[in-house]
Amino acid sequence: EKAGYASFMLKEIAEQPKAVADTLLGRIDGSGTLSLDEVRIPPGVLREVDKVVVVACGTAFHAGLIAKYAIEHWTRIPCEVELASEFRYRDPILDQQTLVVAISQSGETMDTLMALRHAREQGARVLAICNTNGSTIPRESDAVLYTHAGPEVAVASTKAFLTQLVACYLVALYLGQVRGTKYGDEIRDVVRDLSGISGAVEQVLGTMDPVRELARSLAHKNTVLFLGRHVGHPVALEGALKLKELAYMHAEGFAAGELKHGPIALIEEDLPVVVVVPSPRGRSVLHDKIVSNIQEIRARGARTIVIAEEGDEAVAPYADHLVRVPATPTLLQPLVATVPLQVFACELATARGNEVDQPRNLAKSVTVE
Ligand code: M6R
Repeated sequence: EKAGYASFMLKEIAEQPKAVADTLLGRIDGSGTLSLDEVRIPPGVLREVDKVVVVACGTAFHAGLIAKYAIEHWTRIPCEVELASEFRYRDPILDQQTLVVAISQSGETMDTLMALRHAREQGARVLAICNTNGSTIPRESDAVLYTHAGPEVAVASTKAFLTQLVACYLVALYLGQVRGTKYGDEIRDVVRDLSGISGAVEQVLGTMDPVRELARSLAHKNTVLFLGRHVGHPVALEGALKLKELAYMHAEGFAAGELKHGPIALIEEDLPVVVVVPSPRGRSVLHDKIVSNIQEIRARGARTIVIAEEGDEAVAPYADHLVRVPATPTLLQPLVATVPLQVFACELATARGNEVDQPRNLAKSVTVE
């Protein structure tokens, strides 16, 4: 049951540190080597893979978008990510050397199931990332990596998403390890960084009061925009999806670099814009670009809600509201940056009087095409 929480969604948000830790459990040995028992595709076959295609819907699709950055960076294998509902109707190019990764919390999403059936008919190997033991999608796949989020009851996906990300990183790292890439040292470092992620998510959850207060103060707004770059772009899309489905508000996520190609025309006085800022360490060029994006929208009246890593002082002068997340490597940042967006959407929806566990018109598992 709800264990004292007002909703399943709040309970599931709070369970994320454990869900993340459980999904990592037993998959990395003492020497930092990955072992994925449920991936029953022989290493020899994985070494021959020349393309990865991720198929999924909704929030799971956003996990796939983030997976692409990790897979291409750590394995150097080209990776496409496609909405399952689009994939099968466009005659995709697939063969025995294609690895299709189907991501689904429920394991019953019809569009994703149809996409994986189509992929297998073309000879591709399918690896499912799934949260529901024995469900249809893993049963019909060549291999499965289960996420250990535990049952997710609320329609809006939260803890399943974070564990899907963990599973995607594990797949990317495992592929990198099996094939051997020049990123061997980096892979070892990331394996170490992943073990600290559960604590980082816990830390974010402990600092959410100002986010809840901000959400309540914006309950009367009609529109909220979300911006990000690199892996922050799918995080922005996820923040917008949460707000749509829970608060029934117009919410849109954009790649920050696209602003000047159209969306900046939407900016008006006091429009809330959430910006996911990448770490200033590592890929600093991304960081500097987004700081100028924040300046550009603020100059046009936007109310900037900035999610930035601790110690990033460069963004502070341009943030009307600053939400701090612990420092992580850039590729792992979605694990911490998504959490405030979940809390924001849940609180805003509640302030509007909406039923957060069961939003109107939606079902937890979409078993029709
Ligand atoms: O069970 P699945 O992961 O296959 O579900 C996919 C989507 O229907 C799901 O993520 C949906 O977008 C959520 N309601 C989002 O919060």
